[in-house]
Amino acid sequence: MFRNITLGLLMSAVAALASAQGQLYTVVDGYKVDENTMKGFRTWRQAACDRCHGANQEGMVGPSLLNSLKTLTKEEFVKTVRDGRLEKGMQSFGTSQTVMDNMDHLYAYLKGRSDGAITRSKVELIPK
Ligand code: HEC
Repeated sequence: MFRNITLGLLMSAVAALASAQGQLYTVVDGYKVDENTMKGFRTWRQAACDRCHGANQEGMVGPSLLNSLKTLTKEEFVKTVRDGRLEKGMQSFGTSQTVMDNMDHLYAYLKGRSDGAITRSKVELIPK
């Protein structure tokens, strides 16, 4: 009990520090993430990007985002997701309120996956 509270405080401190340093995401144990990164994962699910990019971002009809985000800039990412590449089968999400509102979170989640810091697709919130 006491230990859990101490741990919770420590986690909050770590998360606060991370965001103060402008880090994209915070991850513990490979799958527990901060709230914004969690929102990114929920957006990924809600927009069903996995239909084309695979449940684990490994690629299907669309390329592996684990690879793509190693080289794609944030600007290219935003442009691709917003405008799509319609002639190549990547749809546009510019009219999806959820995706547009959560673009940074979506990027953070996928970047964490691509960096190998988030070790599995399904993430959970860091316990409070
Ligand atoms: C209907 C299928 C489909 C869906 C749904 C889809 N994509 Fe794509 N996506 C593609 C295809 C196909 C490409 C490759 C386009 C090309 O050849 O340039 C692509 C390309 C991309 C790229 C650029 C990769 C690179 O290496 O240049 C990003 C980033 C991306 N998609 C992110 C997403 C995200 C995030 C979502 C969900 C919000 C999503 N996609 C949903 C099919 C899809």
